[in-house]
Amino acid sequence: MAPPRLPLTKAVIPAAGLGTRFLPASKAIPKEMLPLVDKPAIQWVLEEADAAGLSQRAVITAQGKDAMRDHFAPAPALDAALEAKGDSVRLEALSQLASLGEPTWIVQDHARGLGHAIGCAESFVDGEPFAVLLGDDLLDPHNPMLPAMAAVRARVGGTVLLLLEVPDSMTHLYGVVETAPAPADLGDDPHLAGLEIHRITRLQEKPAPGEAMSNLAVIGRYVLDPAVFDVLRSTAPGRGGEIQITDAIHTLASMDASEGGGVHGIVFRGSRYDTGDKLEYLKAVVQLAAKDPRLGSDFSAWLREFEPGAGHRP
Ligand code: UTP
Repeated sequence: MAPPRLPLTKAVIPAAGLGTRFLPASKAIPKEMLPLVDKPAIQWVLEEADAAGLSQRAVITAQGKDAMRDHFAPAPALDAALEAKGDSVRLEALSQLASLGEPTWIVQDHARGLGHAIGCAESFVDGEPFAVLLGDDLLDPHNPMLPAMAAVRARVGGTVLLLLEVPDSMTHLYGVVETAPAPADLGDDPHLAGLEIHRITRLQEKPAPGEAMSNLAVIGRYVLDPAVFDVLRSTAPGRGGEIQITDAIHTLASMDASEGGGVHGIVFRGSRYDTGDKLEYLKAVVQLAAKDPRLGSDFSAWLREFEPGAGHRP
């Protein structure tokens, strides 16, 4: 018999990586704390979890990344200073941050890979299905995908991935999937209408150029069955000597639904940025700034006229 289909309330947000691609900026400031307009990446991600109704949230952190905790901690002296100045705009921004509450903090002792980081959340997850949102992966906030992923989980159980079609030249940077048709009636669900959904039969972590099973790459949102924790315990270190979540999900894909197995994926057609990568970070800042209600029109007007190498224009 298939396990009961519990609603999703828990989110695990891995943010304990070394962030080497963003050095030296990420030496003392966690890459998840780099600002995207006026909020750090980790706040955008927690806001997405909150908007999806994931009311219990745990961030996987590491030694030296205390700036993330400080960001979510109350700051009564700052509130008092803004109140004294009558600065209602900034007070509102801080109250929006405070309304997220403080996540549970879980420390990963060493950066042993994303699979290991997720494994650190086993007691927090406590046997329920849960969502994973990578702390440096930004999805267009106007196009949330977690509700559709939860709807797939509710229909078919198991694990649900978010997939991005990438060019051949980029498959070696991602986990890549092999697909088979998903149950035909999934599209009857109003949450899933118009979405491309696949059953996933195998996964490869960062395949060598020319060896990828498809152009569908796994990106930083997952809905995982708690069966993943047993699988992770017996997953040997893979690529780069790290415990890879891709390898654990590959095992889940071959397991029976009665054991928490089965993997499906939804193809994402919106904007997504790996903010731990410098070029993608810059693109994310431009996109968010162009859509910002206060800055958007001035910034977009400036951008239209922008010429690299030209002098400063007010
Ligand atoms: P990345 O591979 O993007 O992070 O992991 P990284 O290892 O910090 O990156 P570079 O290559 O050194 O620049 C994706 C997510 O998983 C977290 C990261 O913080 C990031 O949010 N992660 C990764 C962990 O929490 N623990 C790990 O051991 C590895």
